[in-house]
Amino acid sequence: MKREKFGTSLGAILAAAGSAVGLGNIWRFPIETGQNGGAAFIIIYIMCIILLGLPVMISEFLIGRYTHTNTAGAYRILSKGKKWRWIGRMSVFTGWFILCYYVVVGGWTMHYTFLSATNAFNGVKSTEFGDVFNQFVSNPWQPLLWFVLFVLLTHFVITRGVQSGIERYSKILMPTLFIIVVFLAVSSVMLPGASAGVEFLLRPDWSKVDSTVIIEAMGQAFYSLSIGMGCLCTYASYFEKSTPLAKTALHVCVIDTMIAILAGFIIFPSVFNIGMNPNEVGVGASLTFISLPNVFQQSLGEGSLMSVLFSTMFYFLLFVAALTSAISLHEVATAYVSEEYNLTRHRGAVIVTVTVLVLGALCSLSFGPLSDIQLFDRNIFSMFDDLSGMILLPIGVMFISLFAGWRLDRELYHNEISNHGDLRTPYFRLLIFSLRYAIPIAIAVVFIDQILR
Ligand code: PHE
Repeated sequence: MKREKFGTSLGAILAAAGSAVGLGNIWRFPIETGQNGGAAFIIIYIMCIILLGLPVMISEFLIGRYTHTNTAGAYRILSKGKKWRWIGRMSVFTGWFILCYYVVVGGWTMHYTFLSATNAFNGVKSTEFGDVFNQFVSNPWQPLLWFVLFVLLTHFVITRGVQSGIERYSKILMPTLFIIVVFLAVSSVMLPGASAGVEFLLRPDWSKVDSTVIIEAMGQAFYSLSIGMGCLCTYASYFEKSTPLAKTALHVCVIDTMIAILAGFIIFPSVFNIGMNPNEVGVGASLTFISLPNVFQQSLGEGSLMSVLFSTMFYFLLFVAALTSAISLHEVATAYVSEEYNLTRHRGAVIVTVTVLVLGALCSLSFGPLSDIQLFDRNIFSMFDDLSGMILLPIGVMFISLFAGWRLDRELYHNEISNHGDLRTPYFRLLIFSLRYAIPIAIAVVFIDQILR
């Protein structure tokens, strides 16, 4: 069967950017920036992106485009012997694993879009938003229904195929996301007292920067770029031979970082507008589903049209960001199952969706009926989250960079990134140095640091 390709290079960039721009940009990056030294953190983060993230992204693109097959197949073809091929399979499973809990949050964003649009937060007291969220997630049915809906949406896009599914929806969803981000950031910055929020985000405070901050910046950079788990490799397997790999990767990094910084402009001005302590807004779910609905109500007027509009757009933004990332994760597994086991794309997608429905349901229920199932003080959801983010992902990045730096033939590498001599590659040696030494050493240091803690 003929393999599909992305129809345009814009489509390829938007699809990869759709994978990168996700919940991480909105619910983690701004807070990390605010608490870890503002512009100082942003500078360190950007350095991590350029020196560590970009080389791995380029390599994953290269591996995918060169082999034109799913991630497990790609590493099998390139590793020749047995030793390295498990990196591909591990990447596939890491992506699959992330997908199982990511879609649960995707469901929450739909529920909160619905609540915002129906003005359901009107009349909820500031202190009650925690209860609203906890009652929702601990309910056995409600989150489950939204989660199933979210998974089915993802499944729908995947089964349409590469061009009329992934590419087409990326071309609709990513510009939508961009417009919403800009609109929300501009409105937020115009609130009275907003400048304190902007200052909190941007004032460089180098005294806050220590090794933990650098480690956080690095982890965030990896997660945010979607590297280390097969998404980019799989998408690149649909690239045209003429796609400039380094330039495409650079575009994706710029879009991802810009959206993350803009998300900070949405959140902090509103937080400061109501005089809330920015260190108490929480991070992740508690920020997004407990602090922010309250912040939006108070800063824009309880139950007012503006607060309905603003918060509906905000949760819709989260939903779109989560959806395009979930699509990329689903595609990794779908391409793997259908190509490695010789099934139709449709069958492969059904198998992946069923497994995600089962495992995701366990994650969803772990805030309610299954909350007693704990391992190392974590419920099922956190186990999925932490195991993938803190262990599988950094290991994936480390081995991909070792593979690309040491195992891949240098000439092959150079031929591919220069499109057989068509493009200039003055950065080539730096790239190889980074892959061979800088990235593996940086990750090893982080691991040792965490173990010694
Ligand atoms: N990059 C996404 C985010 O920022 C998360 C993600 C990781 C998506 C890995 C796909 C693959 O939220």
